Parts: sequence; C-alpha cells; structure tokens
Amino acid sequence: MTVLITGGAGYIGSHCAVSFIEAGLDIVLIDNFSNSRPVSIDRIETITGRQVAFREVDLRDEAALEAVLREFECTSVVHFGGLKAVGESVSNPLAYYDNNVVGTHRLLSAMAACNVRKLIFSSSATVYGDPQFLPLTEDHPTGPVNPYGRTKLMVEDMLRDLAGSNPDWRIAILRYFNPVGAHHSGLIGEDPLGIPNNLMPFISQVASGRRDKLSVFGNDYDTDDGTGVRDYIHVLDLVEGHLRAHDALDRHSQAGAALTVNLGTGEGYSVLQMVRAFERCSNREIPFEVVERRPGDVAACYAETSHAKAALGWTAERGLEEMCKDTWNFVCKNPLGYAAE
Ligand code: WQD
Repeated sequence: MTVLITGGAGYIGSHCAVSFIEAGLDIVLIDNFSNSRPVSIDRIETITGRQVAFREVDLRDEAALEAVLREFECTSVVHFGGLKAVGESVSNPLAYYDNNVVGTHRLLSAMAACNVRKLIFSSSATVYGDPQFLPLTEDHPTGPVNPYGRTKLMVEDMLRDLAGSNPDWRIAILRYFNPVGAHHSGLIGEDPLGIPNNLMPFISQVASGRRDKLSVFGNDYDTDDGTGVRDYIHVLDLVEGHLRAHDALDRHSQAGAALTVNLGTGEGYSVLQMVRAFERCSNREIPFEVVERRPGDVAACYAETSHAKAALGWTAERGLEEMCKDTWNFVCKNPLGYAAE
C-alpha cells in the first residue's frame, strides 16, 4: 500500500507527505524541482523522523513514471505536480499545457499500464472562472479565464472520461481555494521562486523586510472594503482533506464517475483583512499602496462546504490567525526561504 505523491517536494506536496506518513501510510515522492528544492525532502524526514523514498522524475517521462510505480508497488497516486502561476500561464501557455495536461496524460498512461487506478487530483477553484453565484458549489458552471485554469479543467475532463470508461478507476478531484500557511514546526512552508504571485507569501516577505511594500490590486471591487475577497485555507486542513479523500475512495465506489469536492473554509476574507491579520500576528507593519486591478482577478470567491462534509466527513478547522501565525513562523525560521540551505 504505497502512495505515489507527484510534486512531493513542493509546497502542498511536502505537507501532504508529512500528513500521510503520520497517518501510517507508505509513500514515495517524485519531483523535477522546477518549482521546489531538494531540501524540503530533508525537512519532511526531520519532521516525521522517517526516511522518505524519492525519485527525481519529470511527469512527461512515462517510462520513468512506470518504473517508480512498479519499483514501489504503488497502489494509489496523489497528483500535485504541475505549474500553477496564473500570470505565467498567460505569457507561456504551451509550458502549462505541456506540464499540466501532457504530464498528467503520461501519468495516467503509466498508471493504467501498471494497473494502478486510484488517483487524487489537485484541481483549483480557478476552474469556476468569474462566479455567477456565491458561495461556490461543485455544480457551479465552470469557465476558467486563463490558461492555468483551462489546463486544470482539461485534466478534470480527462479524468471524468477515464472514470466513465472503466469502473475500476477511483478518482477524486479536489478543487482548492486559496492554500496558505505552513506546518507548525516552521520547517516546511510556501517558498515561491522569485517575486511571489500570491498574496500571503508577498505579505510575509514585506513583514520580514524582504520586500518594501505590498501592491493592493484594486480597492474598487463590490466588496465591503473594495479589495478582493478569497477563501484562504490552511495547508494542514487542505492535506487532511486529501487523507479523507484517499480513505473515501476505498469506501464508496465512484464507479463511472469522479468524486469532485471543493476544499475551502466557506469564509471569505479581503486583502485588507489579511493585511491586518498578518500585522497582528507578526507585530510588523505591512506598508501597502493601492494600484490598478490585476487582469483576470474576480471580486470574490469562496466555497460552499456541505458536499465536502457529506462526502469526506471533512471541514476546515484552522482560522485566519493560525494561517498567519504559521506563515510568519516559517518565514522567521527561513528568512530567505529554502534558498539559504
Ligand atoms: C488573492 C487576492 C489579489 C497579490 C490564484 C490561483 C489559484 C491558486 C491561488 C494555485 C486577490 C490580491 C494578490 C498581491 C494583491 N493558485 N493580491 N496583491 O488570484 O485568488 O488565486 O492563486 O493553486 O488557482 O487562481 O490568489 O493570492 O494571487 O490573490 O492585492 O501582490 O490578493 O488581487 O484579490 P488568487 P492570489
């Protein structure tokens, strides 16, 4: 019973590795280090006190994928590996279709060749595009507005077709809202390469003095304070949802269909609320300047969470303060991220 975790050296993959090991599961990680560093594998070993099996593999290398599946006699896969920057996907769409769609196709082909047919896929609320109603339920129409979101939806469609083609496939599609936070040890966390695209890592780098100020992308949205509202979810809650999904796929037969679940808290917080929360947790001022809206941004996006509760017996437990506190703890212990290693 070994679980293959793709993108296992990455932000969410490394937290999933810790959570699955602590749940008593055997795992093997693969990563190509395009957006992660080998040191996070060492950190997973330090946190869990266990040696972690790892292979450096690119998802587009089907033979290498098959070799890992066979070597470790994998029985399931949790698939995080892929590119995830919205802006980069607009300027370099082919890289996103190659890594996210072709890469997943190669993974599924290798799984089929090895008769490994249990998969959890890391999808995203970005597949919903501009919300037509809120909170977002899983049956909200999809309509991604950027190449990154379109790759996620294409993979979801591939998975639904696969589930429909053979009842032996057991597939969960988990749509993340906004993952933030870090393991309470401060040993693993979000460590984006270069200038952070996302709000939380940018705020934390302003708090630590690595960046001068935050640009707030617009304050003229139809929200309470005019800034964007998002459903931030602690990464530890997120990976707990994966553990529940992994169990659920053994319990309920999903024969013929993929289990699709939103992973969010159901709470929306604005940019300015996040700034104030982080100032309280870090006891640091976060200077900011309101600038133009970022193209492609929506005013508000947050989850309806009843299906996650019913299907997985899961709800997010951690609040905004803990998300900020754990992020700040990671940044204080790793002021330059993993790069300092
Ligand atoms: C949050 C809010 C911005 C940065 C994206 C992807 C999603 C997932 C998370 C991968 C918005 C505002 C941000 C900044 C700002 N990615 N903001 N200044 O865009 O909701 O979601 O990242 O899994 O799939 O779509 O997250 O953190 O970029 O933005 O004002 O420097 O913060 O306008 O309102 P987003 P984000």
